[in-house]
Amino acid sequence: MDKFIIEGGQSLKGEVQIKGAKNSALPILATTLLCEDEFEIDNVPLLRDIFTMKKVLEVLGVSVKFDKNKAIVDTRGAVGYEAPYELVNQMRASYYVLGPLLARVGRALVSLPGGCAIGTRPINLHIRGLKKLQADISITHGYIDAYGNKLKGSHIFLEGPNGPSVGATINVMAAASLARGVTVIEGAAMEPEVTDVANFLNKCGAKIKGQGTRSIEIRGVKKLHGCKYEIIPDRIETGTFAIGAAITRGDIFLKKANANHITASIDKLKEVGADISIEKDGFAVKMEKDINSTDIETAPFPGFPTDMQAQFTALLCLSNGVSIVREKIFEERFMHVLELVRMGADIKKENDYVIIKGVPYLYGAKVMASDLRASAALVLAGLSASGTTEIMRIYHIDRGYENIEERLRDLGAQIWRQEE
Ligand code: EPU
Repeated sequence: MDKFIIEGGQSLKGEVQIKGAKNSALPILATTLLCEDEFEIDNVPLLRDIFTMKKVLEVLGVSVKFDKNKAIVDTRGAVGYEAPYELVNQMRASYYVLGPLLARVGRALVSLPGGCAIGTRPINLHIRGLKKLQADISITHGYIDAYGNKLKGSHIFLEGPNGPSVGATINVMAAASLARGVTVIEGAAMEPEVTDVANFLNKCGAKIKGQGTRSIEIRGVKKLHGCKYEIIPDRIETGTFAIGAAITRGDIFLKKANANHITASIDKLKEVGADISIEKDGFAVKMEKDINSTDIETAPFPGFPTDMQAQFTALLCLSNGVSIVREKIFEERFMHVLELVRMGADIKKENDYVIIKGVPYLYGAKVMASDLRASAALVLAGLSASGTTEIMRIYHIDRGYENIEERLRDLGAQIWRQEE
């Protein structure tokens, strides 16, 4: 296992190019299963989760090769139907093969994802939606055992108690693109990644309308074909680097970043005192003033993203007042809080929110990464802290940020990877 050593206190300055969106690339790779053809998918980030998806697809009989950030996928020939526990337990998003397998081979046996560091993550909405398409699904021996030879379009309301589901919307949309007749998903997730998958499927010949709104209409087609496609930039990586600039009083240009995908976070950055200037091929973040306190509540897109909550929590630890951060999507997603406290933060957790009293500085400490975004928050805290921070178990960060330490070093950070 590797760890990061960070010598804090350097302002991040310069330009960083934003990589492709992990949460688009994962379902796009999985939905290639819907057709028997070849694909060239560009701007795929080279991450642990992407390599896990590659393994899942290979186990199913698909060939996936990489030429830098381009994935060459060949789904011709027979494919299997089982996504085993050993892979699904490394990455929940393996469940993205469920809908495509049902639509293509009429059968899927996908391990149930199990526990997760950010809280309970049920998959009832995926199952509810696919059942509405007339799939026959049961849970046996830890597996989702699904049959669906004749998927049929349907009118589906797909919201759960915490709002729409990105994963369920994509799984159902993918399966419905080869179902007979028309499917309408009401209460659909509006996240840019859902739109990206819909645009990809349309390029493969699907007939999807309304992506990016609460109601998506999918007109089933008989067959889909391969295509060339480029994944959108990662909005959470964008936001994480943006906070890197704010927390270190730096000045960074985020090349290729799409500001429209992260408006809620940009608004919050402005509120805490950052200067943002949006340009044609990205945007710049500069921080010269004190960090103002603010309150945040996570919400489905276009609201403030849960995937930015931990990083903003780290930033607000250094504000000039008191902030409240409420987590409405994954109520338990506060594993970073006690680690930040070890670095001198003043945070109190109450149910689904934390109260953060700003302190003048954080100090370096040994801390433990517990999930992807929590690890990003610890890296950000370490960059701003005085002294040395050691972050253990950084395989979590490798799941979602390509080559993060090298790119931070290019911006002036002092961060190194070492064996634990
Ligand atoms: N939910 C249900 N039932 C379901 C599915 C979801 O009740 O069947 C609930 C969840 O428990 C949660 C809410 O619905 O309260 C939203 O969850 P959603 O299904 O949208 O999350 P997801 O698809 O499992 C994706 C991202 C997450 C991101 C969330 C929310 C991928 C691979 N993962 O997860 O990304 O936090 O959407 O935006 O796309 C990350 O990248 O660090 C990450 C965790």
